[in-house]
Amino acid sequence: MRVARATAIAIPQDTSSQVLQRVVRVGCVATYRSDDTAAAMPRPSGGRARRVALVTGAGRGIGRAVARRLSSEGYAVALTARHEGQLRETAELCSGPTLVHAADITAAGAVDEVFGRVESEWGPVEVLVANAGVGVSARLERTSDEDWQRMLDVNLTAPFRCIRRAVPRMVETGRGRIVVVASVAAKIGEPYIAAYTASKHGVLGLVRSAAAELARTGVTVNAVCPAYVDTPMTDASIAGIVAKTGRTEQQARAILENKQPTGRLVSAEAVAEAVWFCVATDTVNGQGINVDGGAVQS
Ligand SMILES: NC(=O)c1ccc[n+]([C@@H]2O[C@H](COP(=O)([O-])OP(=O)(O)OC[C@H]3O[C@@H](n4cnc5c(N)ncnc54)[C@H](OP(=O)(O)O)[C@@H]3O)[C@@H](O)[C@H]2O)c1
Repeated sequence: MRVARATAIAIPQDTSSQVLQRVVRVGCVATYRSDDTAAAMPRPSGGRARRVALVTGAGRGIGRAVARRLSSEGYAVALTARHEGQLRETAELCSGPTLVHAADITAAGAVDEVFGRVESEWGPVEVLVANAGVGVSARLERTSDEDWQRMLDVNLTAPFRCIRRAVPRMVETGRGRIVVVASVAAKIGEPYIAAYTASKHGVLGLVRSAAAELARTGVTVNAVCPAYVDTPMTDASIAGIVAKTGRTEQQARAILENKQPTGRLVSAEAVAEAVWFCVATDTVNGQGINVDGGAVQS
């Protein structure tokens, strides 16, 4: 474990690592690393006290797990989604400072508004996790223009706007980590989710291009690509299977579990672990990291 800066807190050199982590967290000073890999991330300079992360879709599911993970790693974490109550619940579960900003990330001006608030209260965003997403399931010929557009707006255009807004400050400071929560649907096509799949393939293209463009700037851009994760989004998919097929909830859940080689759903924490890997390393760039128990081998 390494300590980057002690700020106002006096820390004896022989303090045990457990106690040290507590001291740093209680002091809300995001200045330590929990392992050696994390040391690859450049350290703040110029007296800035906080390392700042922004997580979209942080109200539940994967976004909540990612927010908790970044918080436990010492980041001050800004949380955004539409439902303020869910964001406040996530904030309660975080161990460090949080900032709650409710917004529809697809609304005109919303991305600027969220970043503006975070920057004015805490300074530049060093870690962006573009996680907010929605899914829809329908046969191709029954996919409406509205559903198609909604998939593109939330899953593709919003991450694009967030990345576009985050990059100039990251490049200016010479450090930044961008992680998009995509899906294995960014890598393969499955029936009945054409609009979702198109949006996720698109966002992986965005990640790859941005990574290539920013490779020399100290900013990395990666995606994590989970299979079915045990979150409210998957609960909704299960409810959809029940409604459409008349199967029981247990049977519907088993169908999704059996799509994974492991025979179980991925946990939100496992996805958060992969996100943290992308934050902690500086050599992995432009990747779409599958978090699926080996279902898609690419
Ligand atoms: N669950 C899976 O099996 C799975 C698999 C692969 C990839 N993913 C991807 O992982 C990400 C998170 O999924 P999840 O399973 O955690 O879903 P979830 O449980 O439904 O959570 C989605 C989050 O995104 C937010 N969100 C949705 N639309 C938004 C909008 N217009 N503006 C702002 N926030 C919005 C939601 O909050 P509000 O409703 O309050 O806005 C919520 O906080 C998504 O990108 C999804 O595509 C999920």
